[in-house]
Amino acid sequence: MLIENKITADGREINNRMVFQPMEGCDCTPEGTPSELTKEKYRRFALSGAGTVWMEANAVCPEGRANPRQMMLTEKNLSDFERLTDEIKESAIKRFGFKPLLILQLTHSGRQSVSPVIAYRNPVYEKTRPLSDNAIASDDYLDSLADKYAFSTRLALKAGFDGVDVKCCHGYLASELLSAFTRKGRYGGSFENRTRLITDLVKAVSSEKGGMILCSRTGLYDGLPFPWGFGADEEGNPDWREPLALCAKLYDAGVKITDFTIGNPYFNPWLNRPYKRGPVNPPPVKADTALGYFKEISGLIKKNVPQLKVVMSGMTYYGKHCFEEAEKMLKDGICDFVGFGRMTLAYPEFYADYLRGAFDEKKICATCSKCTELMRAHCTSGCAVFNPYYRKLYKEAVCKKQR
Ligand SMILES: Cc1cc2nc3c(=O)[nH]c(=O)nc-3n(C[C@H](O)[C@H](O)[C@H](O)COP(=O)(O)O)c2cc1C
Ligand code: SF4
Repeated sequence: MLIENKITADGREINNRMVFQPMEGCDCTPEGTPSELTKEKYRRFALSGAGTVWMEANAVCPEGRANPRQMMLTEKNLSDFERLTDEIKESAIKRFGFKPLLILQLTHSGRQSVSPVIAYRNPVYEKTRPLSDNAIASDDYLDSLADKYAFSTRLALKAGFDGVDVKCCHGYLASELLSAFTRKGRYGGSFENRTRLITDLVKAVSSEKGGMILCSRTGLYDGLPFPWGFGADEEGNPDWREPLALCAKLYDAGVKITDFTIGNPYFNPWLNRPYKRGPVNPPPVKADTALGYFKEISGLIKKNVPQLKVVMSGMTYYGKHCFEEAEKMLKDGICDFVGFGRMTLAYPEFYADYLRGAFDEKKICATCSKCTELMRAHCTSGCAVFNPYYRKLYKEAVCKKQR
């Protein structure tokens, strides 16, 4: 099967095409150190057989944290991260004879930070969360971020990661700047200005990454009409010209793998995490349409920037057909890897079970979004359907509130 094939990226051999995508648990200590809950998740991911484990959002600075329990690698907790990366690698080697590529996602949560830091005033987002001009990040502040990303990169290298992801998606700071058409100054207006921050961050990380591979979770379509979203026309339909130019620019700056995505989980989760029944019913954009966008842009990236390795997203929705779909996509050459999000929480052993002919359809993710609801309720997050700990938490924190 194609999914089992090795692949080389930036001179590194990766054991297979299965990617466990970043899944934030909001369960680190106030200092950003992985807690027992965090470690438990990665212990299970280590035994998944995935060639790549892409670790969750890790803030590069305290003011860029989306919640007080977001992961944050610092000099003080470096040894905790070292122990975690060692443990993941050792247990994978013991079980499968290889270690997964371990990537750390570097982020600044921007508009979603505990105290919002925004790229520009966006009336669409601010309908539900009003803000003032005081929240707009100054050019000087944006200039200062490259050093913070570079510092986190040096720590990630010391901690034993194999790669870092300069996150630019889901409406967080670097991603929001991509649609800063109305912003004045060096970070707004032209394509060059709007992509200045992400390009500078990638270059800063590139110079400090040592032997690590440089990746990016890149948001290529916000699903909001121009001028309030990236990659869209005035009606809000995808316009892939700038997203493709961005992919080419990121590749030139040193990015070797993009785990691209679309939409904003706070605003239009039906694009990013397709579902049948979920937060808004029926979903304003059908799952088939969202999955069509994923396939279309992925194929276009492979055609236009063939050297850039591409991870397909949104795979969980395919449920029991996910492996057939994955084989088709890999065979058609529209992606190099297949990435799974929610399925990894619901059924972390799904890939290992599939390989040994024991894939259990009863355990697959229901795409119900209860894990996301837990996050929105400011709880730690995990699978509220199959994991008793989160099931109880969901009943206590979400169901009780809804009564
Ligand atoms: C609870 C939860 C936490 C997530 N955390 C992150 C994250 O930290 N970083 C990120 O880039 N994406 C995050 N995502 C998005 C997933 O990586 C993935 O792109 C999304 O769930 C769609 O894939 P799926 O259909 O396979 O679930 C999260 C999604 C969920 C449901
Ligand atoms: S809570 Fe629902 S969407 Fe989230 S992982 Fe579990 S089954 Fe999937």
